Amino acid sequence: MTTETLILSEFDAGVLVLTLNRPDKLNALSFALTQALIDALKAADADDSVRAIILTGAGRGFCAGADTREFAILTPDNQALVEQRAALTTELQGLGKCLSKPLIAAVNGYAMGGGSGLVLSCDLALATPEARFGYPEVKHGIVAAIVMAGLVEHVGRKAAFELVASGRTVAADEALALGLINRVVPAGQLLDEAHQLAATLASYPVQAMRATKRIFHEVAELPFSEGLQRGKALNARMRAFRQGQETPA
Ligand code: COA
Repeated sequence: MTTETLILSEFDAGVLVLTLNRPDKLNALSFALTQALIDALKAADADDSVRAIILTGAGRGFCAGADTREFAILTPDNQALVEQRAALTTELQGLGKCLSKPLIAAVNGYAMGGGSGLVLSCDLALATPEARFGYPEVKHGIVAAIVMAGLVEHVGRKAAFELVASGRTVAADEALALGLINRVVPAGQLLDEAHQLAATLASYPVQAMRATKRIFHEVAELPFSEGLQRGKALNARMRAFRQGQETPA
């Protein structure tokens, strides 16, 4: 399968839908799929006509996490490859926040390990009642390492530790209660709802949306008092960029 077909893309009226396309492997993140997704997201970010992005999976899975079949070559005597793989996964898991446009996950099925991490790397997430989440790495004798920061950030220590230590699978309703996703929608409406949400976000002034996303993720990582000051600084400048006089820094 070529890089292009690993990610399907569909564009309409400012909204780009990227579909992970390894349905027979529940869209497990091989080297090639990970790189293809990074490339597709970066290209979407560089394209001014794209104002919101939806990420979903082909077939019955959203993303089953790292491709376990590639574990055979990821051995200590292959250290360069191990490090390359870790760097690629880290880049993907951190990319969503860094994009200048809203990224919406439409979770159509299993989102395991790195797949669940991918959901958390999106700004918003809708999921079907059939969607399942989990961090089963410990069952394979490995650690849900790179996805751990995003998980703790979203659900807090107790819930996060339970997920990474038990490897248990979480249904959509529990994922909603934990804060892994924004809402559960019937399978037949998933993409329509994601489109509606994306279209609404795409219809707002670009500068305001960009600045909202950027400051949101900055503030989320700051202590309250520093976040307040960051907001104050932007508040003063946004009066100008509202009239198109200044681009927010
Ligand atoms: N890497 C590579 N292939 C994977 C995969 C993964 N992470 N997850 C699923 N697949 C493949 C299966 O090997 C199978 O391929 P095959 O038909 O060629 O044998 C296909 O996807 C369908 O998976 P299957 O296990 O038959 O589906 P299921 O509905 O019975 O179970 C899961 C779904 C998600 C519970 C199960 O596939 C699973 O546990 N996958 C591993 C998830 C995981 O541990 N991710 C973190 C990796 S560190």
